[in-house]
Amino acid sequence: MLQGLDFISESELADWVNKHLDSEAVALSSGYQGKTLLYSENNHKLVIKVPLGNFIFRPVNLALLRHEYQIYQQLQGMQAVPVCYGMANKQFLVIEFIEGHTIREKRPETDSEYYIKLLSAIKEMHDRKVAHFDLKRMENLLVDKNNDPKIIDFGVSVLRKGGLHWLNQYLFKLAQQFDFNAWARHKYNKNMENLAQEDRQYYKKTAIEVASKRIKRFYKDKILKKLRNRA
Ligand SMILES: Nc1ncnc2c1ncn2[C@@H]1O[C@H](COP(=O)(O)OP(=O)(O)O)[C@@H](O)[C@H]1O
Ligand SMILES: [Mg+2]
Repeated sequence: MLQGLDFISESELADWVNKHLDSEAVALSSGYQGKTLLYSENNHKLVIKVPLGNFIFRPVNLALLRHEYQIYQQLQGMQAVPVCYGMANKQFLVIEFIEGHTIREKRPETDSEYYIKLLSAIKEMHDRKVAHFDLKRMENLLVDKNNDPKIIDFGVSVLRKGGLHWLNQYLFKLAQQFDFNAWARHKYNKNMENLAQEDRQYYKKTAIEVASKRIKRFYKDKILKKLRNRA
């Protein structure tokens, strides 16, 4: 049985998933890696992440989902992270459904308490050896009923290992900086010229971000201009 779930068994959940996998009505998101479904029956709501793909890619996507499960275990008990019930039939990741909306749908104002709470959640997450790496995506940050932050989607998060793993340490540091930069970008709605003195310590563009911005600008300026001129 999944931890803390007494109203449905793992095999019943798996049956539900197989029945609803192609239903658009219950899909929260859908990509080539997998699907995120909203289970909503008899007053119970759950989020279920399902790996997709052919015989080569499905095992890879399943491994990513198991990685996400491991991260959730590391973060259980945090106010800003949903409860994770486990992997149903070792295949599907089962998570508490958060009533609310994403910051893409409605972004809290710059001076809102939301960003203070989000910053302390990011710091606690880092203390627990997890760096998210994908907080720039506004769909990965939720606002719950009390207007508090909830962090989701740990698919590409980095778990810091002990000892001398130089690549892991480098990635963890990079992901930590990405998390802080994303926090600042959301707080100031990308108007970084408004960055307050006390928030400057959190916003440091990494070489990778600078390079990717340059590539994007080059693409926009040169290539699109050429195409437009040709049209
Ligand atoms: N625990 C949750 N509570 C409420 N909505 C969620 C939850 N988890 C995911 N969602 C919704 O489903 C979307 C996709 O989930 P996510 O975990 O980000 O999957 P993906 O790996 O496809 O990006 C989110 O952007 C959000 O809108
Ligand atoms: Mg996501």
